[in-house]
Amino acid sequence: MTIPLTAKATMPKAELLSEINRLRKEKNAVILAHYYQDAEIQDLADFVGDSLDLSRKAAATDADVIVFCGVRFMAEVAKILSPEKTVVLPDMDAGCSLEDSCPPDRFIKFRDKYPDHLCITYINCSADIKAMSDIIITSSNAEHIINQLPENQKIILAPDRHLGAYLAKKTGRDMVLWPGSCIVHERFSEKELIKLKAEHPDAPVTAHPECPDHILRHADHVGSTSSILKFVLENPAEKFLVATEPGIIHQMQKSAPHKTFIGAPGADGNCNCNQCPFMALNTIEKLYNCLNTLEPQIEVDEITRIKALAPLNKMFEMSPPAASNRPPKSGRAF
Ligand code: 13P
Ligand code: SF4
Repeated sequence: MTIPLTAKATMPKAELLSEINRLRKEKNAVILAHYYQDAEIQDLADFVGDSLDLSRKAAATDADVIVFCGVRFMAEVAKILSPEKTVVLPDMDAGCSLEDSCPPDRFIKFRDKYPDHLCITYINCSADIKAMSDIIITSSNAEHIINQLPENQKIILAPDRHLGAYLAKKTGRDMVLWPGSCIVHERFSEKELIKLKAEHPDAPVTAHPECPDHILRHADHVGSTSSILKFVLENPAEKFLVATEPGIIHQMQKSAPHKTFIGAPGADGNCNCNQCPFMALNTIEKLYNCLNTLEPQIEVDEITRIKALAPLNKMFEMSPPAASNRPPKSGRAF
């Protein structure tokens, strides 16, 4: 059979999936997917996880090729940790509004105004911003890492002001916040959430810390995507309201089909507006194309890579052990 270099819209789905399976073996590739990816991408991935899980997996894999089904900063972390591997992203335009909200030329001036502050940076940023940072955090390990710092340590927290405000409150630390935000998590409506809670009084609310405080204050559980997943699986309730990107609901339904998961609404009462437009750029067809052509590839210049590696390694040193964070398992989602 002659394999087309670029998947045509007409290529039957079954053929596309079987070609992806053939190519991943042939190229010794691992497919890593974030929980916000389309259900069909999650289902064919070797590993599905949150930012920390996926970084650990990218650092540990013995595959030659990492196909990163997530956004660009996540694939960039994979390249920083495993520079000898080929790292491909199905769509190079899959960026992140938090990354966009923190341009390096402005951030360096901001950082230099606070020379006695430790620069703690959320993983949702570019390699250039990581290279200017002291410690990287994710929503899984942020509180644990900050609590290890001396109580009087002054902190710059960038780029997410909502995560920063949440962490300042939780840890009682003195923080200067960079004014960035996630366009997806900012869209949840408090008014609509209150209405939904009144309709489902028995449903605990779970939320990602990228949500503003007016959403987080209604939450029974706040955590990373994997922590949210763990909460809904372990909690005895039968119904949950979920204030994060709705892609995560796929894993919830797979793991607990008897439970009901309701996406928190945006201002128009419709939760579809909370789909991450960047994550949605990756499709099965683009996944096939990048596996086939090994393009587009992630590149990070070596000086930036070495500088960005130090705060990432600091993150791994200070993170809770992988076992308490639903570690990556081979097979499918974890
Ligand atoms: P997690 O690390 O919790 O998966 O978050 C990643 C992200 O981009 C949330 O918007
Ligand atoms: Fe970035 Fe927000 Fe999309 Fe997460 S959901 S990748 S923070 S834009």
